[in-house]
Amino acid sequence: MPSLFRRKSVDLIMRDAEAGDEARLKRSLGPVDLISLGIGAVIGTGIFAVIGTAAAGGPDHLGAGPAVSLSFLITAVACTFCALCYAEFAALVPIAGSAYTYSYATLGEFVAWIIGWDLIIEYAVGNVAVAIAWAAYFHQLFEGMGVHIPAWLAVDYRSAHQAADAVAAAGGAVSPANALAFEAWTNHPTILGIPLILNFLSALIVAAVTYLLVIGIKESARANNVMVAIKIVILLFFIGIGSLYVKPGNWSPFMPNGFVGVWTGASLIFFAFIGFDAISTAAEECKNPGRDMPIGIIGSLVFCTIIYIATAFVLTGVQPWDQLGVADPLAAVLAHVGQNWAAGIVALGAVVSMTAVLLVFQLGQPRIFFSMSRDGLLPKYFARVHPKYRTPHVTTIWTGVVVAAVSAVANINEIVELTNIGTLFAFVLVCVGIIVLRRTDPEKPRVFRTPLVPLVPLLGMAMCIYLMLGLPAVTWFRFGIWLAVGLVLYFAYGFRHSRLRKNARS
Ligand code: ALA
Repeated sequence: MPSLFRRKSVDLIMRDAEAGDEARLKRSLGPVDLISLGIGAVIGTGIFAVIGTAAAGGPDHLGAGPAVSLSFLITAVACTFCALCYAEFAALVPIAGSAYTYSYATLGEFVAWIIGWDLIIEYAVGNVAVAIAWAAYFHQLFEGMGVHIPAWLAVDYRSAHQAADAVAAAGGAVSPANALAFEAWTNHPTILGIPLILNFLSALIVAAVTYLLVIGIKESARANNVMVAIKIVILLFFIGIGSLYVKPGNWSPFMPNGFVGVWTGASLIFFAFIGFDAISTAAEECKNPGRDMPIGIIGSLVFCTIIYIATAFVLTGVQPWDQLGVADPLAAVLAHVGQNWAAGIVALGAVVSMTAVLLVFQLGQPRIFFSMSRDGLLPKYFARVHPKYRTPHVTTIWTGVVVAAVSAVANINEIVELTNIGTLFAFVLVCVGIIVLRRTDPEKPRVFRTPLVPLVPLLGMAMCIYLMLGLPAVTWFRFGIWLAVGLVLYFAYGFRHSRLRKNARS
């Protein structure tokens, strides 16, 4: 079936995007907006929440320990290789759609569909995790101010059930890690005998962000710039205050679970880096993508790595690593040393940071749908651009509704693992794409070239596969199911409606 692998040429991709005013996005973003968009996507749930589980491990305590900084470093190296590949692609094909569009140009329609489908995991599923963590920190923030939001509005039913089991197993002892969920279990309303435990808070923030994005990209980028400035200041604040309370003794043993702990920590903490690639979904709205895309992608990655490693050292220095497995570890360690005021400020920073992440991811996902729909792989309905705001409002609203609904009922740890495997898989395919494109389109002038091809993309692939292998079997299983559903949809709709295929026949 050769038409499965029909490629959309880079020239055609560019022409399609330029043609037809009704399906055109507004070019308004510069390099600072892009770096800011990158940091906006990257710094969030990973550093404020997942870092605790990566360091302490789950109930088994098989985490990285103080060596979680090493987990960050390993992940950063993997991401750098991939970022160099993303930068070449984004500069070459500055079109909404990111890895989906790149693979359409290089590996053909079938693989492009798989990536497009897979990216839903990165963006939409990833945002589910962010919204859930947002709700936990938001709840904590209000608690710190003396305002109690009922726990049944801020956790999902399953987490509450699991917390009840854990407390029963511990002979009634409630740990900080399951206090909120346990409160929801013990105190919630019922409707017609059905317990009402739903994460309304996470659904609410997703709705608010969706509204902002429908109104317009420039307005959203401005809101993002403010939030990015706040999150950087807050993390520096944490590093500054926290370093006053570091006890070097907490850093030893440095690798309590050996290299396996560091590796599984890296597979988990990869979540903290997801997002630098999201900048590329805004390429079509960028004033000078050839120059600005690489600056945006690599600039935000380097910045985040430095600040993450510093944060990891301080966090593990203040409190013993096996006590860090809570939903709000950065705030918790400051509270642990009696600095409640500082903990409150950090909680506020976490809420702001995660809002920025939600914004960028909710911005990325609809633009991938938009591109897929423009290519005929999804119904045309999804490619509508708002007549006044010039944003892909239909896909933005659909994404918002689904993410909000799932975040109200989902469990954060499972969602983080699924997001990581899906994103790592997309990165692998982008690395493959760079090698292929150098062979199929060697003459194309490249504003930015990935250095040392094929070595850099090969190393990127190898490291992503290595991180994927650190994830549990159940995550691989769920990912397999997701891909299988995608295949069914492709053959039921996309394959038959593909514009490229139709044009080739006419
Ligand atoms: N990197 C993003 C975060 O940590 C997804 O929230």
